[in-house]
Amino acid sequence: MKKAMQNMHPVKRLLWVTGLSVIVLALGVVADNWGDLMLPSQAAPAARVMDTKAQLEQGRYLALAGNCMACHTTRGGIPMAGGRRIDTPFGGVYSSNLTPDPDTGLGRWTAQDFWQAMHLGRSRGGRLLTPAFPYNHTSVVTREDSDAVFAWLKTLPPVTNVQAAHTLVWPLGTQPALAVWRSLFFQPSPFETDKAQSAEWNRGAYLVQGLGHCAACHSPRNALGASGAVDDLSGGLIPVLNWYAPDLTRDAESGMASTPLPEIVRLLRTGASMNAQANGPMGEVVQHSLQHLSEADLQAMALYLQSRAQTAPPSQAVDSKPKRITLQVANQGAKVYERQCQQCHGEQGAGVKTTSGEVAYPALAGNRAVLLKDPTNLVQLVLYGGYGPATADHPRPFGMPPFLLELDDRDIAAVLTHLRTQWGNQAGEVTPLQVNRIRAAQGG
Ligand code: HEC
Ligand code: HEC
Ligand code: HEC
Repeated sequence: MKKAMQNMHPVKRLLWVTGLSVIVLALGVVADNWGDLMLPSQAAPAARVMDTKAQLEQGRYLALAGNCMACHTTRGGIPMAGGRRIDTPFGGVYSSNLTPDPDTGLGRWTAQDFWQAMHLGRSRGGRLLTPAFPYNHTSVVTREDSDAVFAWLKTLPPVTNVQAAHTLVWPLGTQPALAVWRSLFFQPSPFETDKAQSAEWNRGAYLVQGLGHCAACHSPRNALGASGAVDDLSGGLIPVLNWYAPDLTRDAESGMASTPLPEIVRLLRTGASMNAQANGPMGEVVQHSLQHLSEADLQAMALYLQSRAQTAPPSQAVDSKPKRITLQVANQGAKVYERQCQQCHGEQGAGVKTTSGEVAYPALAGNRAVLLKDPTNLVQLVLYGGYGPATADHPRPFGMPPFLLELDDRDIAAVLTHLRTQWGNQAGEVTPLQVNRIRAAQGG
């Protein structure tokens, strides 16, 4: 079912949504207590009583690992007071106020209410939450960790901020529709320890599948907006944002099998490694979340990612052989490269390192990001520029200017085609249409 709906044509998607509305209306006649119908309430495992100070510190740390702040804070707003609009292909969803304000926040909530939200995706009082809150992932979090995050949230200054009404297309935001959606795509899933693996591997798996919610971006989304299973890291195009999150199980896309562990750790902590740069949404994940994690936890995550990539079944070749590129496109690409790119990336695309061996300007020859089948990220970078995340270890990363105004769609397509076919690179052509789609989707 999930597979079949991936990559669904927009017209089919419309039919699907229409079909869903019909199901929803039909079911609406039958039952009116959706929450209880769909999810029999579960007895939660008892919470362990902990040393309060250690628990608060753990809660603060886990909230960083979950990047709760990123979604639950408006730009420049008070941390965790909610109100941030999250755009989905179906409309906008506003995050809730997680400060302990009694009327508009979590002030009257118990740890049990909070656990229900994390584990079952249900608000206090039973309202089914929209999956813009990645509760398929927070569902993996243990009761003990949920209690620690809750205890820490209770120490924040209370802020009055009423959650705005979502603007999802009808009927998708309604409780019946959410109930149907959940019956198709959501199953509360406590973490399952793999006894054949080490404690470190399991810690990494727990963080990646749970709080880290990596599959929320690194797995394909289906026509109704559901991402893959919590451990599906097979890569996906992030809707609305228009970035491609590479397949972390395929070495050709992400290098996770062949990159040495310390380099994966460095990439997660600083957003840059020997041969990869984290840009766009991944730069934000590094900046707001991963750089704050302990060395031991990053190590565990890297170990898990590497083992997933090393044991994944081999897959087909990454990209087709380049089509025959016209002389005109080849010349145009070479000309744009020489004028706009060469000064930093070098005549032979070899990049530049600083005297201390850090990457100043990345090499483009043999670069995975350049060779990805899906050229979305390349177009984003050239249009809007790029700089890695500023982190404690790497406070002032080198940047790349935007070419939005300087280069038109043909120039960008030609220069990217040039990158993908020079210096031994063998990836497909980028067309002006592909560039134009992204430029138009991002509002020019
Ligand atoms: C990708 C964005 C995103 C992330 C990351 C995220 N949330 Fe949320 N969260 C939301 C949105 C959006 C809602 C509102 C859902 C709704 O009202 O249907 C929400 C709702 C909630 C609710 C329900 C509140 C209520 O009043 O019903 C809780 C509790 C919550 N989030 C806790 C967390 C915690 C804790 C974290 C970090 C571990 C977190 N969230 C991370 C987007 C996010
Ligand atoms: C908000 C979406 C989002 C989330 C959440 C996210 N990623 Fe990413 N990730 C991306 C995108 C987009 C890229 C490609 C960025 C680029 O090429 O510059 C990426 C790239 C990466 C890469 C680099 C691959 C390479 O080419 O070297 C790694 C490793 C990675 N992510 C790991 C993770 C892990 C681990 C998590 C969970 C802790 C995670 N990501 C969560 C969007 C996301
Ligand atoms: C002023 C120097 C500068 C110029 C000019 C420049 N770049 Fe960059 N480029 C950078 C830096 C610095 C990065 C690394 C920043 C990042 O990826 O976050 C980068 C990253 C990239 C990447 C991503 C590499 C990776 O591993 O993710 C590509 C592709 C790229 N540039 C292509 C181009 C193209 C095409 C042009 C010309 C149209 C160009 N650059 C012009 C400095 C430059």
